[in-house]
Amino acid sequence: MNRVIIPLDVPSVSDALALVDRLGDEADFYKVGFELYTRGGLEVVRELVSRDKRVFLDIKLHDIPNTVARAVEAASDLGVDLLTLHASGGQRMMAAAAEARSGHLKLLGVTVLTSMNKDEMASVWGRKISSVRDEAFRLANLGKEAGLDGIVSSALEASWIRQKIGPSFLIVTPGIRPAGSSSDDQNRVATPREAVRNGADFLVIGRPITKADDPSAAFAAVLKEIEKA
Ligand code: C5P
Repeated sequence: MNRVIIPLDVPSVSDALALVDRLGDEADFYKVGFELYTRGGLEVVRELVSRDKRVFLDIKLHDIPNTVARAVEAASDLGVDLLTLHASGGQRMMAAAAEARSGHLKLLGVTVLTSMNKDEMASVWGRKISSVRDEAFRLANLGKEAGLDGIVSSALEASWIRQKIGPSFLIVTPGIRPAGSSSDDQNRVATPREAVRNGADFLVIGRPITKADDPSAAFAAVLKEIEKA
């Protein structure tokens, strides 16, 4: 079992399954986000599960506790492995989600979206924000207390969070770029080796693998780098 999750950031079910075919047996963990989910995600999720792939359903739930709990039940029944929900939905929402999960489903809290800055947060929450990082940690901790299994975090902040939150909490990091590869539209990137050393359990790595001339060779190179870390 490897710790690389490949996002299926493609617009159709057939594109998604073609990519999975191209990557072969070694790649066994895929992320399905909003775009693909809305275009036929259920079919993709079912197909991935039937091929014994692990699935990270990244649909960032945020609703009243009962509604989120029912969605978590549905994701558990589908056989999903990781599911995201917004920690800002509150402790009762997260606790209801934690209570409703079954099978091997693990719940990840989204703390502060990387697109947010202090001013935007202050306008949404109606108070001055002195540190985005402290707010992210505060929300991560609320999630932990409510029974979530982990969070999504930048690889650069992972080591700070890992130290503060302890070992038994999953940290999943996007924004990973092997040395020498393009950072695309990501601002603050880390290499696979840095992410693992910083305490990440799973690494979401998209374009460096999916847009490579030979995606399975790019994937194998990333695995090798992680092994060495
Ligand atoms: O291609 P790339 O490696 O940049 O893909 C990263 C994936 O992780 C994308 O699906 C993106 O939406 C997701 N993600 C991210 N940054 C976050 C949260 C999710 O890049 N803060």
